[in-house]
Amino acid sequence: MSDAGAFLTAIGRQLSVMSLYGPGHPARVEGMNKVTEELTMLLRGNAFPAFSFLDGDVVYEGHVLSDMRHWEWSLKLAEVGIERLEVGPGTTREALEGFLEEAHARMSLEGEGASFRELDGQTAIRFGGVTLDPDEAEAEEEVLRDPLAISLEEEAEVIQWLHGEIDLHGVVPADEAAAVVKLLSVAMHSEHDVVVPLVQLKSVDQYTTSHSINVSCLSMALAEHLNFVSSDVRTIGEAALLHDVGKTKIPLEVLNKKGKLTDSEWKLIQSHTVEGARILLASGAGMELAATVAYEHHLSFNGEGYPELTYPRQTHEVSRLIQVCDVYDALRTRRPFRPPWPAARTIKFLEEKAGTHLDPDYVPSFIRMIENWEPRQVELQAEGDEAAA
Ligand SMILES: [Fe+2]
Ligand SMILES: [Fe+2]
Repeated sequence: MSDAGAFLTAIGRQLSVMSLYGPGHPARVEGMNKVTEELTMLLRGNAFPAFSFLDGDVVYEGHVLSDMRHWEWSLKLAEVGIERLEVGPGTTREALEGFLEEAHARMSLEGEGASFRELDGQTAIRFGGVTLDPDEAEAEEEVLRDPLAISLEEEAEVIQWLHGEIDLHGVVPADEAAAVVKLLSVAMHSEHDVVVPLVQLKSVDQYTTSHSINVSCLSMALAEHLNFVSSDVRTIGEAALLHDVGKTKIPLEVLNKKGKLTDSEWKLIQSHTVEGARILLASGAGMELAATVAYEHHLSFNGEGYPELTYPRQTHEVSRLIQVCDVYDALRTRRPFRPPWPAARTIKFLEEKAGTHLDPDYVPSFIRMIENWEPRQVELQAEGDEAAA
């Protein structure tokens, strides 16, 4: 078993022991010794181990840990809002104990809110996941009534984390991105008919997150509507989710600027296509299509747009498919520099641009799909929103 697997196994055992024996029991002390020992081993090989608990699997160092597949505690931790665990080199036995007690308490007290946080102000160990404010009875009731809202908040948080990782390390954690798309696809098929869950953003800073979710859902819905095979639908969903990753390199003041952009700011915005492709190509095998889409999604059907091609050519069909969804969501969303467009105006715009800016075949298919499937709006809630509201 890997050191990471051994550490998690010790964590899982200790959580079981804690449900059987009270504080101070010898079995607890012994279990804690084991957890600390395994952490020391783990830290020898990796100074900053970080785990994500997604979909019943454990993602570690960008890969699903094969020896921890279907580890029961992955689901249990995620269920109580602990979808990530980071243990730095300064993690003390007390901090680990504090984390385990918190996890144990959450599992025994259902409905407790959780946020990504640091224990006792120290930074060596961090964990967290979804934010549910237990004081907001109304919001909670809403969440309980609408399971879709819960899952999309989770995805939103994972995407915000993905963007942070990209910013920090310059590469996309591929397994987590794939897991998010899988969960979005599940949300789309959770009812009798396919629904397109679209996220409404609460603050301007969430634009890239909510836009990524929406373009991914719309693109998968369109691909399904066009009878693409399901593995292709997922690949398209991933490429759509990541089409704007290059924006993580652009300062928010520029992305959300209200007034006219200067030439250099406009150049910076345009660079998100090339930058995104670069990040995706550096992220390992399997990201080639996503890189192509990131590079091409602002190139028009008639060859205009950016980045300028030395040898103009038709863009990839997946770039053209995602582009229609990208333009639709961008126009329907409120931005600091303009109000959201009404649906009818947006659809009229797509029709006008079919054959020049946009693909003339995908536009009518998209419109047929959108008119048949009432997109469902889900409000995106992120940490700090309650305070800001
Ligand atoms: Fe873009
Ligand atoms: Fe976009």
